[in-house]
Amino acid sequence: MAVETTLVLVKPDGVRRGLCGEIVVRFERRGYDLRGARLLKVSKALAREHYGEHRGKSFYGELVDFITSGTVLALAVRGEGAIAGVRALMGATHPADSAPGTIRGDFATLLSENVVHGSDSTASARRELRLFFPDGLL
Ligand code: RTP
Ligand code: MG
Repeated sequence: MAVETTLVLVKPDGVRRGLCGEIVVRFERRGYDLRGARLLKVSKALAREHYGEHRGKSFYGELVDFITSGTVLALAVRGEGAIAGVRALMGATHPADSAPGTIRGDFATLLSENVVHGSDSTASARRELRLFFPDGLL
């Protein structure tokens, strides 16, 4: 493994429900470092770019509408094997499959409102970090 930096988003449902602290503490407790943190309202253009891999799928419009529906907390999270490690802490995409003890397993019941996003590969992490932290990281 290697030290990696990954993008986490606490999605609008997570921010609205006051779950930012609950979520951040899980990454910190695991031993990852925060290298960037930014509260923002995602524009339609940024949302379309971020979710570009899903363009053309039936749920793409809903995804863009949802991520732009409120405030998001963007985090740059760094640590050994952080890309897969963060995804493991998040839990499976589908709430029916996300285990208790994971973020989604503990806080989400809907596929469309599943509280967090995490980059799914080295290439995605590099691309997504540039989108959300255009001025770079610490
Ligand atoms: P994310 O990108 O948000 O971290 O989620 P993920 O990698 O676990 O899942 P992904 O396949 O990238 O899907 C992105 C988000 O789209 C919604 N989704 N809806 N209706 C559907 O079949 C469907 N499939 C995915 C979910 O909200 C998912 O988080
Ligand atoms: Mg994804």
